[in-house]
Amino acid sequence: MKLMFGPPLFHLLLCCATQTLGVRIESAPAFNSEGVIQTELEKTVTLLCQPEGGHETEEELMWLRNDAAISLKEGNTKGSSKVCVTPVLSEDNGATFTCRLRENATVSASITLDVTFPPQLSGSEEVTVEEEEVLVLLCDIHANPQVSSVSWMLNGSTVDLLEGGFTITNDGSTSQLSTGRVDRSLHQGTYQCTANSAMYGEYTKVFSVTATERTIKFPMMPIIAGVVVVFLTALLAVASRWRKIAQCCK
Ligand SMILES: *[C@@H]1O[C@H](CO)[C@@H](O)[C@H](O)[C@H]1NC(C)=O
Ligand SMILES: *[C@@H]1O[C@H](CO)[C@@H](O)[C@H](O)[C@H]1NC(C)=O
Repeated sequence: MKLMFGPPLFHLLLCCATQTLGVRIESAPAFNSEGVIQTELEKTVTLLCQPEGGHETEEELMWLRNDAAISLKEGNTKGSSKVCVTPVLSEDNGATFTCRLRENATVSASITLDVTFPPQLSGSEEVTVEEEEVLVLLCDIHANPQVSSVSWMLNGSTVDLLEGGFTITNDGSTSQLSTGRVDRSLHQGTYQCTANSAMYGEYTKVFSVTATERTIKFPMMPIIAGVVVVFLTALLAVASRWRKIAQCCK
């Protein structure tokens, strides 16, 4: 009697006899009551998923990161499944990881990462701008939590918006300092943008701005057109002259 049960039938019976009630995620570090894991850049987050109720070891699991399937190694899908996020990147901030049954998408559980990171501001940059041109300096102030303030300095003192004709804009991820018409006496110097993070402190980037004399830009196209016209006219003159000469010799 026992021999009559081939493996496919056995599986079929098992499938219909059980109903998995849910899947459960465990994580290190642990998630809070809202299903959020608090972490930082470069850290590692480990997620473990297991089915609950019924014949757990037979259930095929899968993981999604923001609705995109995560490719899992063989043997990491049945009964339980583990994924690691390492190292944690700023792009992982707000990412949702979902574990579900492969066969039934309604049986799932999710957690979300909250990645704290400071603004990526450091070092210095050489900027050369021609007089009368537009000067634009950009600072990446993207951070979690958001920076509490951003300040711009020129030669060690707060930039004078009126005197320098500066405009400062801030869209939450970039702070931009710009001026429409560079004047060497007003705009050449060392600029510094500083972002303040309540969690990470001060971050600064330096710009050494050199204003160069305005170069007279030759309008190339009109010159080329002019040369072509002169050349063609000369050619026509020679041609018509040649016709006359030829006529004389007839
Ligand atoms: C998927 O799981 C839910 C909840 O356990 C259940 O009600 C539903 O019947 C299942 N669907 C399928 C196609 O198995
Ligand atoms: C900033 O300092 C430099 C070097 O001392 C100086 O050449 C420049 O004129 C100063 N810029 C302004 C706008 O005062």
